[in-house]
Amino acid sequence: MKKRLFQSGLGLHGAHNQEEWKKVALAIYLCKYIASATQAAPYLIHTAHTALPLPVSRKKRFVTAACLNEGGFQGMMPREKTSLKNKEEESMECDESMDKKGISRRQMVLGAGVLTASAALARFGGWPGIAEAKGGPTEKWPWPYVKLDPATTAELAYNEWYRLFCGGAVISSVFSQLREKVGEPYRSFPIDSFVYMEGGLVGWGTLCGSNNGAALVANMIIGPRIVAGGEAAHHMSSDILDWYSNASMPVFVPKNPKIKPELIPHTVSESPLCHISVGKWMKAANKPLSSPERKDRCARVAASVAYHLVEMLNAWKDGKYEPVSTWAPVSEFGINAQQNCMECHGSGIPAAPQAPKS
Ligand code: HEC
Repeated sequence: MKKRLFQSGLGLHGAHNQEEWKKVALAIYLCKYIASATQAAPYLIHTAHTALPLPVSRKKRFVTAACLNEGGFQGMMPREKTSLKNKEEESMECDESMDKKGISRRQMVLGAGVLTASAALARFGGWPGIAEAKGGPTEKWPWPYVKLDPATTAELAYNEWYRLFCGGAVISSVFSQLREKVGEPYRSFPIDSFVYMEGGLVGWGTLCGSNNGAALVANMIIGPRIVAGGEAAHHMSSDILDWYSNASMPVFVPKNPKIKPELIPHTVSESPLCHISVGKWMKAANKPLSSPERKDRCARVAASVAYHLVEMLNAWKDGKYEPVSTWAPVSEFGINAQQNCMECHGSGIPAAPQAPKS
């Protein structure tokens, strides 16, 4: 496959020589497949850019197209030249049919290809090498934590909402204090990047950013569930979603509210999703999304979540954190899910196909 990539690629983009093309093709190949497997596209695009010995403008075109185009290698070929493609290669890419073990040919190719390509790239010196994918300087848990005041944190989150919105506000409310009280790694952590959690992730109404931000904070401080002690962060994230879904929101009332509290009704979302949470509140309040009341409601929701998060982190610091949520949809229903099945499915909640017993 690699060989074919070089041959079909060579000349099409006017790469200066075969060596140069090898590097381009390898980086793209690796980048595309790892990115589609891990959704780590932005990081890989960056890494591939750094690795390729080409002027920035050309690199950008190759790598971005290859990484983001789900159609595969085809995506980086100029349209009029795709007919040059070897038929066999095309059928290989498109063949998603499953073999007896349920593994598609493409998945198998993926598994083998990633190793070969990464080994080759490591030789070029442009790829960091698999060993460096873990054990970085910030990947030692837990991060130093000192107990914070929940009310102070909530006030910070309330005010930060008007700058960074829900997810960023929750992260900022905790990390800005830890920057002062602890220093690193909080000082190096780019809080403002997480503005993207707004509106259920760039306005798509999926997971409410307050929940997402709280889960991020817990998983940064305590660590991921794949390291010793990290399970607490996993449980804390689940507890946040459970609590959020069942709380009469917004819970927290700021000291100097921008909107009178009596103008902000309370609703129970029965869901951690932005769309549902905000939608139910907008219906109860009869206020549009752009209204000052809705904005203040969401600022208070972020503050409420930050408050509860710090309560849990403080308990954890004292060795007293006990998970509360017992929600285990995968073992109970055989599918990842939120709690209120009926709200979407009505009374006809489907049963998930079960894996054959081995
Ligand atoms: C936010 C809305 C929502 C909630 C809540 C929800 N689902 Fe779904 N679920 C969907 C949608 C939409 C589909 C896709 C249905 C389709 O394509 O027919 C789906 C698909 C499924 C499927 C697989 C497809 C099928 O029809 O067999 C199962 C099983 C399922 N849901 C079970 C559940 C269970 C159990 C719960 C609660 C624990 C739940 N769902 C909660 C929206 C939801």
